[in-house]
Parts: sequence; structure tokens; C-alpha cells
Amino acid sequence: MENTEFVPIKIDQLLENTILNIDIYGMVNNGYNQLCSKPIPIISDLITEIKDLTNGPIFIDKRDKELFNKYLERNLSLLTNKNDISLAEKTRIFYNIGTDILKGDFSNFGSSIELERYRHFISNLIIFLKSKPGVSKYFFVLKPKNHSIYNHSIGVASLSISLGIKIGLQSEGDLENLGIGALLHDIGMTTVPQRIVEKQDKLNNREFDIVKRHVKYGVEILSKVPGISKDIISAVQDHHERIDGKGYLFRKRGKEIHPFAKIIALIDVFDAITSKRPYRDASDPFPAIREIMTHQSGFEKKLLKLLILELGENN
Ligand SMILES: [Fe+2]
Repeated sequence: MENTEFVPIKIDQLLENTILNIDIYGMVNNGYNQLCSKPIPIISDLITEIKDLTNGPIFIDKRDKELFNKYLERNLSLLTNKNDISLAEKTRIFYNIGTDILKGDFSNFGSSIELERYRHFISNLIIFLKSKPGVSKYFFVLKPKNHSIYNHSIGVASLSISLGIKIGLQSEGDLENLGIGALLHDIGMTTVPQRIVEKQDKLNNREFDIVKRHVKYGVEILSKVPGISKDIISAVQDHHERIDGKGYLFRKRGKEIHPFAKIIALIDVFDAITSKRPYRDASDPFPAIREIMTHQSGFEKKLLKLLILELGENN
């Protein structure tokens, strides 16, 4: 155990009536001690027992972290419905699991996208977002500080779904497709050279033309996925179109743009303005909306108003 690194986990993330295939450690007499060895059937007695053995945090081997995230992902509906986990903690779990899911597919673009895995994640995210008004704010406030395409995509998905609920999308299928489209809206960015994606300064025209292609590539990648909904593909295809016709790729206008794409487009821009980047400070949410309202005529006013209502929601 000399070279083992440990990471803390929360005891309330051990879910009753599940089996954990990971050893659990605790600090006893100033050293890491194994408290339970795998496979561990999680029952309430065991949780009491662990609490008796150590009143401090519990740990797992750092190498088991991914396995632990998979355990949480598999049991996401138990987690989402668990009352003793705070909204903030649940939000962090959604960020962690979502990042793991996206990392897998974003790095293997073109291979089979695990649509069912996305659907499972998004359907639980919808349940969570519906559980209390204003939950989407947590995704905004608790977005990890390191800007990444994964955090951006999860942030855009959560606020897009909340806006979808607010405009009255009724069917679970529609909300799921909106959420999956939002999660994958920038999947085509995997084809843009890293040098351009990570460029600290403003892009020149040639670089911007290359970035624009991510829409076309995104559609190509998604079109190969068996069973994918046309709504998801259209949402990705239209996410840089603007109702005033000043967007790309096809300079569509108004009703020509898929309704899911109008939501994703707005949240995409909102998320970008409110995120800290090397060349710009993060804006606060309401000034960001004001900026969009004043300077951009590419978004529906109705959606902007609903976004203000969503962010002003208290819980
Ligand atoms: Fe994009």
C-alpha cells in the first residue's frame, strides 16, 4: 500500500441495496486502513458499521476512481432520488459522470456513440432538473472552473433542458433529444486542430472558417449512429444559425431553424459569455443576458425572457 494514492468519497454515495466492487479505506491511527474488501453489499448496517470504525472521511484507491464513477453512473436514478444528498453534491456528480461519458466519445469520434448511455444520463438529468424549480442554477454556479468542452456541454445541456421544460416541451422523448443534442452540439470540434481550439487570442478569418466546419462534421459523425433521432441531428446542424439569418452554416432564418437548436444556440452563447477564458473575464448572468438582448438580434426574445425567469427561480 506504500505507493497507493487515495481519494476521498462521500459515505452517502454508497447506495443501499447495491454491490460495490471496490475496496473502501478509512483513516485509523493516522494511517489508511482497509475498512471493507470487495465485493461489498451495501446495506444500512454496513454504513453504520463504517461510521463506527471511522468518523472521518472514507477513501478508495485512486486507480478505482473511474470504476467508482461507473458505479454512480449505473445507479444514477438511486442517486437522483436520494433525499440526503444535497442539490450541490448531486450537481457535482452529474458533472463528473457527464465528463466521463463525453470524454469517451469525444476522443473516439466516428466510432459508435453510445446513445443509450447518453439517454440514461439525460433522462436522470431531466428528473433532477424537474425535482425542484431553479436547480439549473446549480449547474451554472458549480460549473468546474477549468474551462473544457465537457463542462461547457454539460452546462449547456442542463440549462437547455430547463428552458425546454419552461417553454412547455411535454414529452420525455423531446426533452431527451433536446438534452442529447445539447450534450453533443460541439462533437464536431474533435475534427478541429487542437492548436486552433486552444488558441488564446482571437481567431483569424482562416481559422474561424475551420472552426465553422465543426457543424458539418458534427452532423456527419451523428448521422452514422444507428437509431439516432433526426431531431438530435437537426439540433446540432442548426446550433450556429440565428433567427436574423446571420448565423452559419446555411444562414437559415426564423422558422427554418429547428426549435431545439434555437434553445441550444442561446445557452451556448450565454455559457460562453459567462465563462472565464484566457482573453476575457466571465460575465455575471444578468449582464450577460442584457448584452445578448442589446447587441444580438439572432435569438428569440421569448427565450431570453424565459432564461431570465429560469435564473431568477429560487429554491
Ligand atoms: Fe458550436
